Amino acid sequence: MRAPRHPRLGLRNRVTLSFALGAFALSSALGAITYFAARSSILHDEQSAIESAAFANAASLRTSISQGYGTEISTIASIDQGSQSQSALYVSGQGWIFVHPTLHSPSALPRSLRTMAIDGTAAVQIIRFDRSTRIAVGVPIRAAGATYFEVFPLRPTARTLQIILAALVAAGIVTTVAGTILGRWAAGRALRPLRDVSQAALSIASGRLDTRLETADVRDLALLASSFNRMVDRLQQRIERDARFTSDVSHELRSPLTTLAASLSVLEARREDLPERSQKALGLLAAEIRRFQRMVGDLLEISRLDAGSADFETSVVEVGELVRNAVATTGGDVAVDVPPATAGRFLAVDKRRFERIMANLLDNARRYAGGATRVTVVEHEGSVRVLVDDEGPGIPASERARVFERFARGSAAAGSRGAGDGTGLGLALVAEHVKLHRGRVWVEGRHEGGARFVVELPLLDEGGDDADATGLESNPRAGRARTTRPRTTGAGRL
Ligand SMILES: Nc1ncnc2c1ncn2[C@@H]1O[C@H](COP(=O)(O)OP(=O)(O)OP(=O)(O)O)[C@@H](O)[C@H]1O
Ligand SMILES: [Mg+2]
Repeated sequence: MRAPRHPRLGLRNRVTLSFALGAFALSSALGAITYFAARSSILHDEQSAIESAAFANAASLRTSISQGYGTEISTIASIDQGSQSQSALYVSGQGWIFVHPTLHSPSALPRSLRTMAIDGTAAVQIIRFDRSTRIAVGVPIRAAGATYFEVFPLRPTARTLQIILAALVAAGIVTTVAGTILGRWAAGRALRPLRDVSQAALSIASGRLDTRLETADVRDLALLASSFNRMVDRLQQRIERDARFTSDVSHELRSPLTTLAASLSVLEARREDLPERSQKALGLLAAEIRRFQRMVGDLLEISRLDAGSADFETSVVEVGELVRNAVATTGGDVAVDVPPATAGRFLAVDKRRFERIMANLLDNARRYAGGATRVTVVEHEGSVRVLVDDEGPGIPASERARVFERFARGSAAAGSRGAGDGTGLGLALVAEHVKLHRGRVWVEGRHEGGARFVVELPLLDEGGDDADATGLESNPRAGRARTTRPRTTGAGRL
C-alpha cells in the first residue's frame, strides 16, 4: 500500500481544506474578473467625460483668444473656474503658462503627452500626479499656435473602485467561510458510513461476532456493506469451527482419560506389590495423567468461553463474604483483609467463576512463590480490587502481559518446584472469567519483592440489587446467562 501523503491530516480535514481552497480560488477568480471588468468600464466612461470637458475648455479658450483676450493667466483661469482640474498652456515661441501652484512645471506632464499634443495631435494619458491617479489631456489650439493641457482628478472613480474592491473581498471571505462550513458538513455526511464500518469492526474485535452492517437504503455502499458482512460471516464461522474443534477434541479425550485415571487408581491401590522401579514409573504416570486431565478440563472451559456457551449464574454477594468464601474453598489458610468500609458493598458475580479465579491465583502462588501471603480487598473508583500478594520471585515486567496468554509459561516457573505441572492456561482462564464480569486483571511487582495479582471488578451501585446493573448480560460472550441477552445485529448502520 502507498504511504498516505498527509498522514497527520484526517480525511475529514482534508475534504474540508479542499472545499475551503476551492471556494477561495473560485471567489478570488470571480472577484478579480469582476473588479477588472468594472474598473475598465468605469475608467472608460470617466475618460470619455474628461476628454469632452477638456475639449470644451480648449474650445472656449480658443474663442477667448480669438476675441483678443490674449494668452494671459487670467484668460486661462477663467475657463476652468469651479472645476477641480489644473490647467496649463504652452504657447509656441512664448513658453509655458501655469495657472495652478501645484502644476507648475512641464515635467509633471509625461513627455510623450507633451510632444504629441504640441505636435498637433490631441492626447490623453493616465498619470500619477500629486500622490494620486489622474487623467492628463493635451489639446492643440492651432489657431492660437498654442497647446492646452488639463489634469483631471479621478477621485470619485477611485472611491467607487475601492468600494467595489471592498465588497468583492468581503464576498470572497464569506464564500470561503461558507465553503469551509459546507465542506465540513459534507465530509461528515460522506464519512458517516466509514465511521459505522469502523464501529462495527471495533464491536467485532471486542467479541460481538454477530455484529453486521445494515445495507438498506444505501445503494452506493451496498457492495461495501455486503462484502464486510460476508467477511464477518466467514470469520464467525471459522472462529466457531475452531472453538468447536477444541471442544470436540477435549470431549473425545475426556473419556479415555477417565478410563486411564480409573486404571491408574487400581494400580495405585496395589502400589506396594510393585517393584521399586515400577513404583517410580507409576508416580510419573500418575502426575502426567493428572496434568493431562487438568489441561483437558481447562481447554474445555476455554472453548466453552470462546463459543459463548458457558453458563453464567449471577448472584449479588457481599464483597467480604465472597472473597473469604472463595479463599476458604480453595483450602488455603491465607489471611484475608477486608476494610470495614468496603465490607458492606455488593458485587454481582458468578460465584463459581470467582472461585475459579481465586483458586488459580492461589494455586500459582503456592506453586511458584511458596504460597500467597495475604489477600487484600480495596475499593477503587466504583470498583473492588482483590490483591493477591506473595513473596516469591515475582514476574519480570517484560512477562507481565504475556503470562495471561494461552499456554504462556513464565521464566520464573522454570526453577520452581512443580514447574513441570503447569500448562500455561490458568491465567488465561482467569483473564477470560474476569472479562466476563467486565473487570480487569493484571500483575505488578511489590516493593518488598514478590508478585501482586490484582483482580478489579465493578461494584454494584449503593443499595443496588439489580444484576443487570453490572452489564453482565450485555457482555458479548456471557454465554447462557440467566438473564437473556438480545442479539447484537445491526450495531453498524450504513
Ligand atoms: N505468583 C507467581 N509468581 C511467579 N510467577 C508466577 C506466579 N503466577 C504465575 N506465574 C508465572 O506465570 C506463568 C503462567 O501461569 P498460568 O497459571 O497461566 O500457567 P501455569 O501455572 O504454568 O499452568 P496452569 O495454571 O495452566 O496449570 C507461570 O508459568 C509462571 O511462570
Ligand atoms: Mg497456574
